[in-house]
Amino acid sequence: MSVHDDRFAGKKVVVTGSAQGIGLAVARRLTAESAELTLVDRSELVHEAAAELGAHSVTADLESYEGAETAVASALERHGRIDVLVNNVGGAINFKPFTEFAAEEIQAEITRSLLTTLFSCRAALPAMTGQGRGVIVNVSSCATRGIHRIPYSAAKGGINALTASLAFEYADAGIRVVATAPGGTEAPPRRISRGTPPPRSAREEEWFQAHIDQTLASSLLKRYGTLDEQAAAICFLASDEASYITGTVLPVAGGDLG
Ligand SMILES: NC(=O)c1ccc[n+]([C@@H]2O[C@H](COP(=O)([O-])OP(=O)(O)OC[C@H]3O[C@@H](n4cnc5c(N)ncnc54)[C@H](O)[C@@H]3O)[C@@H](O)[C@H]2O)c1
Repeated sequence: MSVHDDRFAGKKVVVTGSAQGIGLAVARRLTAESAELTLVDRSELVHEAAAELGAHSVTADLESYEGAETAVASALERHGRIDVLVNNVGGAINFKPFTEFAAEEIQAEITRSLLTTLFSCRAALPAMTGQGRGVIVNVSSCATRGIHRIPYSAAKGGINALTASLAFEYADAGIRVVATAPGGTEAPPRRISRGTPPPRSAREEEWFQAHIDQTLASSLLKRYGTLDEQAAAICFLASDEASYITGTVLPVAGGDLG
């Protein structure tokens, strides 16, 4: 990982879903680049990550608006302002043909991968507009064009839409709103499960494998990305180096445009 030592010096940054995976990789890079962090997660493991990084941490369930308000209030109490909000919470739960999804499973995907970001943006924007500046980086997905996770694809399409429209609505307030769309990303085994049920049959295993095969086939580079490759793009967009970029969704997926 190559970093820009002081790119975030003096910046107060909130990263959601930062107990593991892409969120933790972003938090590690931001720390190396001198940011002052609030790590938000619903898992207690977030406190372990915060101890490693010397960051502030708060547990909150961002699937409720109250959780988002709690997280923002805690960040403001500790740091007084929010310069950057990285909305990273999300992730597909189920992998199967659309007609296999029960109604409550569809709802759970939208709640996990769309409402969390909507709620966090709504909770953080008043502080940002009060400051007269701020950056929101949403973590979308190239699965906006993919198989076997249609409700998740729809949720991430919503993330792209709210990124563009919030950028439009809050540009005059000095706020940039951007997103990355990661492709398949290699990571160590998850310590915190997304709640994906283990496959109960060869057919369910095939459904899961099919989304991996499609992800690789859709990428020009024919490989998964790394956590560092995702964190590098998120941190660039969050930084002042990206000051003329807003409303944009940057695919980070080896050529898969999503
Ligand atoms: N990993 C990939 O291959 C990939 C590909 C494309 C997009 N993405 C997107 O990148 C983001 C991160 O993915 P990941 O694989 O690193 O995630 P992950 O599942 O490994 O980790 C998600 C983190 O968010 C936390 N979290 C989940 N629900 C929460 C809630 N309601 N409130 C607070 N915290 C909550 C979890 O505890 C966990 O720490 C997601 O938005 C995902 O959709 C990931």
